[in-house]
Amino acid sequence: MKVVKTIAEVREQVRQWRAEGLTVGFVPTMGYLHEGHASLIDASCRDNDRTVVSDFVNPMQFSPNEDLESYPRDLERDSALAEAHGCDMIFNPEPEEMYHENFSSFVDMTVLTEELCGLSRPIHFRGVCTVVSKLFNIVKPDRAYFGKKDAQQLAVIRHMVDDLNMDIEIIGCPIIRESDGLAKSSRNTYLNDEERKAALVLSQAVEIGKSAVKNGITDCAEILSEMKVKIESEPLARIDYVKIVDAETIQQIEKIDRPALCAMAVYIGKTRLIDNFFTEDI
Ligand code: PAF
Repeated sequence: MKVVKTIAEVREQVRQWRAEGLTVGFVPTMGYLHEGHASLIDASCRDNDRTVVSDFVNPMQFSPNEDLESYPRDLERDSALAEAHGCDMIFNPEPEEMYHENFSSFVDMTVLTEELCGLSRPIHFRGVCTVVSKLFNIVKPDRAYFGKKDAQQLAVIRHMVDDLNMDIEIIGCPIIRESDGLAKSSRNTYLNDEERKAALVLSQAVEIGKSAVKNGITDCAEILSEMKVKIESEPLARIDYVKIVDAETIQQIEKIDRPALCAMAVYIGKTRLIDNFFTEDI
């Protein structure tokens, strides 16, 4: 497996693979890989002849008050995990390689981003859309793989690819959880022992929400209230949002009368964690 730092190296390698008639799958990441990323790499290796993983903590998607500086980074560890799962090339650029001094073009989206994480993190999706567009232009994959844990991101990327006629198939992959239910996240590493236990309220609230839907409750306020009682019972938890939205438009709904996404962001101490379920997946 190659680890490359420059756009030119990625392009040269992908050009060679294309000349051999090989297909290319792509897994964009910010590194500090875990089993969630591994499942995306596995899916890409299953569907494609070659797999590229990008490992880049994208400064453009962090607000000044967020965790850009402290975001965990460990290329050696990432390389070992990616290679063990069949990745063929890791692209690990420096920020200057991705954003030159005069960088001034952005990809923004006027729908799907007003709710949920878009509301709490106003510049986030502009940064995500811009970097993912750039990465797609660099790697030119046949397929790209994203986790359903970042459900809004997945919807935004699908919409962007459609709007901008990008010839790339977007594959959404299931949330991978620890054995006790906590969704895998690079940010779990911020949690101390007490916070790690407290963080279970997210997946427990997800289970409460799923059971309510399974039991035929369609009133969103009722479902959300049951979930919030659980989260608020944990002293270390502070709700950013817990909402139910139309899975396609990401606009809030009052009744579950169409495919819906129930999503939450909750601070455990200083760490902001997200979790969700799609009613269609129950
Ligand atoms: O989901 C992530 O890790 C990031 O938002 C992504 C898609 C790699 C863009 O930086």
